[in-house]
Amino acid sequence: MQGAHIASVGSAVPDLRINNEEISQIVETSDEWIATRTGIKERRILTGKNESVVELASLAALKALNKICMDPIEVDLIILATSSPNDLFGSASQVQAKIGAIKAVAFDLTAACSGFVLAIVTATQFIQNGSYKNILVIGADVLSKWIDWSDRKTCILFGDGAGAVIMQACSQKDNSILGFQLNTDGKQFGQLSIKYAEDHCVNNTLKLFKGRFQHIAMNGKEVYKFAISKVPASITKCLETINLSAKDINWLLLHQANKRILEAVANRLSISTEKIIANLSKYGNTSAASIPLALDEALENNKIVKEDIVAISGFGAGLTWGTVIIKWKC
Ligand code: COA
Repeated sequence: MQGAHIASVGSAVPDLRINNEEISQIVETSDEWIATRTGIKERRILTGKNESVVELASLAALKALNKICMDPIEVDLIILATSSPNDLFGSASQVQAKIGAIKAVAFDLTAACSGFVLAIVTATQFIQNGSYKNILVIGADVLSKWIDWSDRKTCILFGDGAGAVIMQACSQKDNSILGFQLNTDGKQFGQLSIKYAEDHCVNNTLKLFKGRFQHIAMNGKEVYKFAISKVPASITKCLETINLSAKDINWLLLHQANKRILEAVANRLSISTEKIIANLSKYGNTSAASIPLALDEALENNKIVKEDIVAISGFGAGLTWGTVIIKWKC
């Protein structure tokens, strides 16, 4: 079996910043409320006409490719984790064309805020079984397009962004993806969703209906409870399968949903809060993009270094949640 490792990371966010004060002009809230309940101070929002997740995803991908001087033509597979495509048939093929990765197979993977973890695990399987050597994994979302900007319970939380990693084959002894643990609880899908609802009949005889997607709807309290109980359990299970313990973790890199969730997970695992990687104060919850966005920043700041053990967990709509444990090799 081949080994797999992350060779490069890149990220991209829109230029427009909206801080909590500005949100307070749209809905009844305050910087103090948002900052204490979530840790978020500002978020980036994609605004340009016809700008979509494709532009952000492509930019993040090109940055990751450029860092290791890799020609896009060498990419075998692109997995775009997103829940906010600009085409229901998928956006990955547009990214493939935009970056000139003409030899790559490309598909979308939809798993909300767990999407990046699931995409990393999927890419690892293709590499470890020898199918592909160079895989571009992108987590990108523009949930601002699906927010009800009059709902203060959700519009304060989300921001737009993209992060990309290049995963490559390596020798088994250099394998960096140590283990993973994934979960889904479909009975809880209603806790966080963007539902499609049929709202009018287009042909009465044939009973043909048409509808549209609604806005993000969330039961915040339940999602909070779910995250702080299930994520530590997933990390613990994953560590057990590879004979490691929470003490071995150098960095805890969780989906950047809420500062209080990050701290509660660390506390439950008895991991020092100094080991938490967090940048959500600047970007809010960027869904599938949040983990690679934070990873890129942590690497730029020389936080993560060679041989560090990084526990990465995603969680969110579905409900889905999961962990991948990486020994950093670059
Ligand atoms: N500004 C001011 N007040 C607000 C508000 C806002 N933006 N949003 C809600 N409130 C009010 C509520 O109306 C409520 O008022 P009431 O007591 O008079 O009814 C009060 O604040 C408390 O609301 P509640 O929903 O109980 O707050 P909370 O402490 O649970 O915090 C979240 C709300 C959303 C921050 C929190 O539940 C959370 O972080 N959940 C997880 C969400 C998440 O991460 N989702 C993505 C996962 S991928």
